[in-house]
Amino acid sequence: MAERVIPLVDHRAAALPPPLARAPVAAGTLRDARGRPLRDLRISVTDRCNFRCSYCMPKDVFDSSYAYLRHADLLSFEEIARLAGLFAARGVTKLRITGGEPLLRKGIEHLVGLLAALRTPGGRKLDLTLTTNGSLLARKARALKSAGLDRVTVSLDGLDDAVFRTMNDVDYPVAEVLAGIDAAQAAGLAPIKVNMVVKRGANDGQILPMARHFRGSGVVLRFIEYMDVGATNGWRMDQVLPSAEVLRRLQTEYALVPLAASAPGETAGRWGYAGADGRHDPALGEVGFISSVTHAFCGDCNRARLSMDGKLFLCLFASQGYDLRALLRSGTPDELIDAALAAIWQGRADRYSELRASLPPEAAHALRRVEMSYIGG
Ligand code: GTP
Ligand code: 5AD
Ligand code: SF4
Ligand code: SF4
Repeated sequence: MAERVIPLVDHRAAALPPPLARAPVAAGTLRDARGRPLRDLRISVTDRCNFRCSYCMPKDVFDSSYAYLRHADLLSFEEIARLAGLFAARGVTKLRITGGEPLLRKGIEHLVGLLAALRTPGGRKLDLTLTTNGSLLARKARALKSAGLDRVTVSLDGLDDAVFRTMNDVDYPVAEVLAGIDAAQAAGLAPIKVNMVVKRGANDGQILPMARHFRGSGVVLRFIEYMDVGATNGWRMDQVLPSAEVLRRLQTEYALVPLAASAPGETAGRWGYAGADGRHDPALGEVGFISSVTHAFCGDCNRARLSMDGKLFLCLFASQGYDLRALLRSGTPDELIDAALAAIWQGRADRYSELRASLPPEAAHALRRVEMSYIGG
């Protein structure tokens, strides 16, 4: 049998030792080397998924011989909550649970409960959300809401059943994801966002049907430029449909007006559907554009990412993370873990999407990057 070459560089074993802070770092919000605060922590809870979207977990790499992490390697929910509490004390106000597919992790409601109990230094609950492919949402929406989840974001790359089955590459029917979105709406996990990765020639014919379906529904549809994240998806620039082109296509049918950002460091550019008077009509809702390829938004990027095995990544395109699990499992007290977090964030200078534009393609490609299913969307 011919041996198959797997173009995956396994970054999971490599980890940076967390810096040992020599002096305590003053309490309060942290700024990185570019003055960016730390506000958003994205927590990946599993590297498994029941879909095989070609832009994220292509089937030929993530097949039955792929070695996923062992359960003992994953952070426990208590370990995650302990770290999240330290991040909250340092200014994080938003937590996003991701994967892989986070609803595949057994007992995820328990983690939601632990995270929902955290407070900012000012005593406020954190914004607690979760990114899911929606397949288990119809079953779990109510339990997630009761456990304290505020809202969900559902990945959905098309409305046409045949296109959707091809995009997820496991022949999963779109009706079940739509039922999951309905269940999330009924459970009050609002505002619900739907993320559509647009891949030219694959699902760009779904832009208008998706807009028609979600306009006026209370769901915020966001179009994401296909990114060169990871090393397995064979990304090419000509497969990227720039957001400007998506907007142009929407404008063939609808009047849209630009809206102001709702939070500093927001990933999406917002546009509202206009009513008859030409002004934004909130009842018709809005769409978002996440344009990390054509308009990098590193300048105010306030996101840190925690992998399921406890590594802290400072950028979606980073090649290595800091091994916080080693600290947790060697009995390090909170003050020293906090000092390590502070030192790590203060040293951060990452801005891959901004640099991508100036790097020759081979140089960008040669950068060792982790997979999105490992680091979390
Ligand atoms: P909301 O608070 O719900 O608006 O979340 P968000 O703006 O953080 O967006 P979300 O988590 O839904 O991210 C949507 C997509 O944007 C991700 O799946 C990625 O494709 C992309 N994305 C999110 N964060 C980053 C980032 O820091 N850098 C880059 N390059 N892309 C990102
Ligand atoms: N480009 C853009 N977004 C991606 N995602 C995963 N891989 C990519 C990629 N190559 C995002 C999608 C999905 C989420 C889990 O991760 O938004 O909804
Ligand atoms: Fe799974 Fe989401 Fe990746 Fe698709 S994009 S393979 S649903 S983690
Ligand atoms: Fe932040 Fe890195 Fe994305 Fe830039 S490329 S926005 S620094 S995660």
